[in-house]
Amino acid sequence: MKHILSALCVMALVLCLIVGVGCPACASEAEPDSVILVAYFSATGTTKAIADYAADILGADIYEIVPAEPYTDADLAYYTGGRADQEQNDPSARPAISGGVEDMGQYDTVLLGYPIWHGQAPRIISTFLESYDLSGKTILPFCTSHSSGIGSSDDDLHFLAPEADWLDGSRFPAGTTRDEIAAWLDACGIKAAPQTGVFDFERKTVMLNSGYEMPIMGLGTYSLSDEECYNSVTALLQAGGRLIDTAYMYGNEAAVGRAIRDSGIPREEIFVITKIYPGSQYANPEQAIQEALDKLDIGYIDMMLLHHPGSNDVKAYKAMEQAVAEGKIHSLGLSNWYVKELEEFLPQVNITPALVQNEIHPYYQENDVIPYIQSLGIVVQGWYPLGGRGHTAELLGDETICSIAADHGVSSAQVILRWNLQKGVVVIPGSSDPDHIRENLDLYGFELTEDEMARLNALDRNEKHDWY
Ligand SMILES: Cc1cc2nc3c(=O)[nH]c(=O)nc-3n(C[C@H](O)[C@H](O)[C@H](O)COP(=O)(O)O)c2cc1C
Repeated sequence: MKHILSALCVMALVLCLIVGVGCPACASEAEPDSVILVAYFSATGTTKAIADYAADILGADIYEIVPAEPYTDADLAYYTGGRADQEQNDPSARPAISGGVEDMGQYDTVLLGYPIWHGQAPRIISTFLESYDLSGKTILPFCTSHSSGIGSSDDDLHFLAPEADWLDGSRFPAGTTRDEIAAWLDACGIKAAPQTGVFDFERKTVMLNSGYEMPIMGLGTYSLSDEECYNSVTALLQAGGRLIDTAYMYGNEAAVGRAIRDSGIPREEIFVITKIYPGSQYANPEQAIQEALDKLDIGYIDMMLLHHPGSNDVKAYKAMEQAVAEGKIHSLGLSNWYVKELEEFLPQVNITPALVQNEIHPYYQENDVIPYIQSLGIVVQGWYPLGGRGHTAELLGDETICSIAADHGVSSAQVILRWNLQKGVVVIPGSSDPDHIRENLDLYGFELTEDEMARLNALDRNEKHDWY
């Protein structure tokens, strides 16, 4: 099946290159995201260039097959009866490799690159293939040559790793560009699995430990009335934002749900976080979860948090775990949990939270808490990123923040939000002003330098702006 898909992909790629359009047909046939190794042999650097592009595009590991005995110019001079010629004439030749892949088991896809030598892959590729158990792995060969096509060089390797899933290979000339390699990989549906917790600034998302992808920038709806909330969520969605944070306690879940339903945007593109509250909700969590589902009325809930520690919090979390099993909730998290609270709580539950949402802004940075949470593979999200009610003006007028903002030609709010993103903290600023909502999403046209990050980090006053 993969062969057929791959062949279709190559055909579609050729068509795409000819007519200069994208490759939707192949994209829709994409393999699931995988952990990828780019392994290659290159005697004179041509194949290396392609391998480097592929590894860089995919964020994949790269491994160079290095001959134990390097090839000299004389060895490579073809049709001279030199070393390379002799090896290619001897199907049993297995030139030794120096070093090896550390943990081949972790990869499910191997891109295998080589130069064409007399119409075939160099024999060192045979050595490589026989050195590992490649069964069940997908192998995508690619080669470079002076003028020959890939010919049977890829198919002729199959018997060396018969249990692998071989895709049809492709040949590239010297001087192939990064864009051409990106188009080829795209057409073949090869995509690297995103790393949990690592922000993808191109997709503007982060992969959670629950396996779901969450936008790294969204809208907080605390203190927004029903109508304000509806309008704000609508403005966010129209501006391209897809992450919304609400809570039972905010009293606006129904407005969030209504705005989502009215938007016409496919449900799966939107990520909604809501929270249940200590007291009667923790005491009767099944009912609280159902209430959230009913009020939101958007099918499932992307993420549910416990609003803050309190009696019955473990019981409430376990009910949320059950709702995950039933498909009512996708991911779980906690809000206002710090190091001590997490140390006590985590051993009592089964599903590691995907997210912890705490107060974080330049005057209350939680520099001790954030690395601890992140070290557990849990994503951190900051509420009150702009300082919170009564404090926003002071924060946005801060001399250091204003001067950095002026240097980049952006607003103070954008600097603060970008600072969060560069620290790996998801931001959900609250706003009912459509202009601010749009501006708060526009965080990708500039980057803070290390020095600017350090200046912002130095603003910490350990000054909490709310009681949680
Ligand atoms: C021993 C040997 C045999 C080769 N045979 C061919 C060949 O049959 N057809 C071809 O087009 N190029 C052939 N080439 C050229 C290489 O395939 C081409 O230069 C390749 O891009 C080199 O890749 P590298 O720089 O990664 O080693 C041969 C090169 C060598 C050294």
